[in-house]
Amino acid sequence: MRTIDWVDGAIELVDQTRLPDEYVTVRISTVDELIDAIRRLAVRGAPALGVAGALGVVLAGDDQDAIARLRAARPTAVNLAWGVDQAAAWLRQGPEAVLETALRIRDEDIAACVAMGERGADLLEGDRLRIMTLCNTGGLAAVERGTALGVVQTLHERGRMAEVLALETRPLLQGARLTTWELGRMGVPHRLVADSAGPYLLARGGVDAVLIGADRIAANGDTANKIGSYSLALGAQRAGVPFYVVAPETTIDFATPTGEQIEIEDRGPAEVVTIRGVRLTPEGTDAANPAFDVTPHDLITAIITDKRVIRP
Ligand code: MRU
Repeated sequence: MRTIDWVDGAIELVDQTRLPDEYVTVRISTVDELIDAIRRLAVRGAPALGVAGALGVVLAGDDQDAIARLRAARPTAVNLAWGVDQAAAWLRQGPEAVLETALRIRDEDIAACVAMGERGADLLEGDRLRIMTLCNTGGLAAVERGTALGVVQTLHERGRMAEVLALETRPLLQGARLTTWELGRMGVPHRLVADSAGPYLLARGGVDAVLIGADRIAANGDTANKIGSYSLALGAQRAGVPFYVVAPETTIDFATPTGEQIEIEDRGPAEVVTIRGVRLTPEGTDAANPAFDVTPHDLITAIITDKRVIRP
């Protein structure tokens, strides 16, 4: 399965808003369609957004306004802007060169996820591992295999996984809808956990490590990732459970010195006051909806990339 690819002159991607009920792919042939797909999270996850950004430049051609709008479609995951910039740098060489660059980024993501899986599985100790994770960091967030969930997949292939505790990931439920779907397909035993139960389950014992992905890693190691990562990191530190960030080198942003400078996407109240279209609250209730938070580097045991293991 490829989450996103270039097929017969257009982008083809799995519409993640339809999972787990339906597995549907959509064809995207304009930048506006792609921006819409990114904003409504039909395609999501930092590595997949990097590939989407690069392939989107193929659709944009030399329309600079379209390229700028695509680059800004979502602000937090650095991979989107990175992918756009990588591909746009080849515009002068012509459309073939841009497409070649975008396909190289796709192929490098596939290889990076394999490398992260192996490095992470080599690093973790133990034979019957119980892993807690948040959001979705599997193949759906990348091209073929994932980042944090890629480590789980490699551990499972090596016969070392006992169980994943997957947090629901309110408000858009990437954990409940997507991670459980992927773990089911992999055959990894798993249980779903309400977000607020995460730190308590860590304190109670029975989790060997927390593995999460990243949307942007600042130069000092502070890591922006799905909202809820910070409370898990605090809980993990208090419980003495190692807390690992798994991300490709392309998610490290040396132009951003610390987490304080990372722009956190606010997605507005509608996603919080409703759940899959059904209103939960009295009419008129307002809500805050930061899509990401920042985990300070001192709460991170190590960052596992496709090239190295970075410790504080
Ligand atoms: O809002 P999303 O679903 O795009 O958020 C995704 C995450 O926070 C992931 O953990 C991150 O992009 C890493 S994905 C391998």
